[in-house]
Amino acid sequence: MTREELVSYAEQAMTRAYVPYSHFQVGAALLAEDGQVFLGCNVENASYGATCCAERTAVFKAVSEGVRKFQAIAIVASSGDYAAPCGICRQVLFEFMPEGKVYLSNQAHEILEFTVKELLPMGFGGSDIK
Ligand code: THU
Repeated sequence: MTREELVSYAEQAMTRAYVPYSHFQVGAALLAEDGQVFLGCNVENASYGATCCAERTAVFKAVSEGVRKFQAIAIVASSGDYAAPCGICRQVLFEFMPEGKVYLSNQAHEILEFTVKELLPMGFGGSDIK
């Protein structure tokens, strides 16, 4: 699976975003170690705090299906600009794929690549709980 293919899955996921409040669609495609791809979109709520970001939707879908090991996640947004994951999503990604890759794509299909660790330096993880 190329970075470009994963981005194209994220673009598909974005079309399903439920965003009546922000009108800001986000799509994520999460690549598991075994090659499965889990799609996620943002799902908003009239009680704004109940909103779930696209990245967490994808992770929670995968984990609830019994998949916990991931290689990479691609993220796109309807703004056409790079959409970096929010702090809560970085924390959730850190739990399952600290060494995993994060691909941010803009509308021109230019891709920025980071590891989750780079996006969350000194992140809090399971090994910190003693
Ligand atoms: N959003 C995401 O889906 N992922 C992020 O990492 C940042 C924000 C969504 C949440 C909300 O539906 C909209 O973008 C505006 O904040």
